[in-house]
Amino acid sequence: MGNGMKAVSFAALALVVMQLLPLARTNPPEEQPLVIQDSRVADIVERACADCHTHSTEWPWYSRVAPVSWWLVHHVEEGREHLNLSTWGTVAPDRQDHLLEELEEYVEEREMPLRSYMLGHPEARITDEERQVVIDWARRTREGIGHGSASGEAVDETEH
Ligand code: HEC
Repeated sequence: MGNGMKAVSFAALALVVMQLLPLARTNPPEEQPLVIQDSRVADIVERACADCHTHSTEWPWYSRVAPVSWWLVHHVEEGREHLNLSTWGTVAPDRQDHLLEELEEYVEEREMPLRSYMLGHPEARITDEERQVVIDWARRTREGIGHGSASGEAVDETEH
């Protein structure tokens, strides 16, 4: 076997071995998830954020193929670590307020959803208007925090 063939065989073998390494593509049970009353906002978050910021991740077929899978699982783990809507109720109000403030900024500055994610998920491309809808919702929700709103959303919904 020539050196070229050896390199190819080695790469093929490495790819096969990679597939055998265990990986945690988990969807743990939800614990006090955030309930978004506004159905428009709920829909946008479902389309553009839920895969990385909840426990209801839809793992695509390519999430089973290493090394793409490593990179993908890492993104989801990191996303959940930073902002987890499936355990929202367990987060202290001050922290919730801070996270929503960050959310406004990230959405406004187009840092979220992650660009790489939108390549495989065209439905996650949200319009400027949809960005504004999410930002307004985050503002309203922050006003509701600490004012006895159990759903994590402003009680007064009459303004829209
Ligand atoms: C492909 C996965 C992915 C998607 C989709 C995604 N995020 Fe993220 N998000 C991450 C990762 C990874 C981080 C942590 C790294 C960073 O801050 O850039 C993060 C961080 C954040 C933070 C910062 C939290 C903090 O610690 O301050 C907010 C807020 C956020 N995302 C909101 C959103 C919103 C809102 C959407 C939908 C419009 C969204 N993300 C979509 C992966 C994602």
